[in-house]
Amino acid sequence: MPDTKRPGRNIPRQTVTEGKERFPCMSSVTVRTAAGFDEKLVAELVALHKKAIPTHMQYDKSGQYFAEALRDERNLNIVMRGQDGTVIGHLLGIPQSRVFEELRRWDPDMQDDSERLYLDTIQILPEQRHRNLSIYLIRKLCEEAEKRNIFKLSMHARTTTGWSRYQFRIFSGVRFLRRIENWYGFGEPFDYLESTTTLKTTACRAPGRKPQGKRITSG
Ligand SMILES: CC(C)(COP(=O)(O)OP(=O)(O)OC[C@H]1O[C@@H](n2cnc3c(N)ncnc32)[C@H](O)[C@@H]1OP(=O)(O)O)[C@@H](O)C(=O)NCCC(=O)NCCS
Repeated sequence: MPDTKRPGRNIPRQTVTEGKERFPCMSSVTVRTAAGFDEKLVAELVALHKKAIPTHMQYDKSGQYFAEALRDERNLNIVMRGQDGTVIGHLLGIPQSRVFEELRRWDPDMQDDSERLYLDTIQILPEQRHRNLSIYLIRKLCEEAEKRNIFKLSMHARTTTGWSRYQFRIFSGVRFLRRIENWYGFGEPFDYLESTTTLKTTACRAPGRKPQGKRITSG
């Protein structure tokens, strides 16, 4: 495990405005922008992280990491809850200016860009996958980013699961810039992508169980 796994970033303690959206076709799922630091939400995100992220990619101090992520009002924390209120998904966007120096250790070509939001963490409970739910986290983040006059995104996208390729199906203005063979010491290749916040009109399919057996296993 790399010793630099998501160290604290001395993020100022502030709150973000809360937003809420319930999608008509998803009566059992709620997607909200987190309203700043909340001890209970930190615990929920830690629980999600332990279940959703493969062990070799988990943050060493996930509680501290999510607490700091929630405290910084410049971040966007999009949280998805199931019908019983359980947190089933989370997407964290951080201004690229806040992360590029740390990430240069793994991707030396990372640049400062004060107008770009970096998609840092996306996680969905394993039992909730393959339902097209990730697009609702992404769509909400794009909407909230645009409200803040941010129209540019970036990410390091996992390739072994098909996640990188999936971005080209949902974003209308996405570009591949480079592949990092051992991203963050995970021992896996990730693609550095840049995109606008504009989604393809075909991106938001209704959620539902997708046919199994077509999973992409290598990228
Ligand atoms: C990545 C993740 C959020 C996607 O959520 P999901 O609910 O599985 O995805 P969706 O049902 O919305 O499908 C979106 C696409 O995700 C891609 N995908 C990425 N990782 C996947 C995974 N582990 N299992 C299945 N599909 C995955 C597929 O291309 C899928 O499209 P397709 O089924 O039409 O081919 C989820 O799989 C997850 O939490 N994975 C573990 C953490 C992770 O890898 N995060 C990304 C790091 S860059």
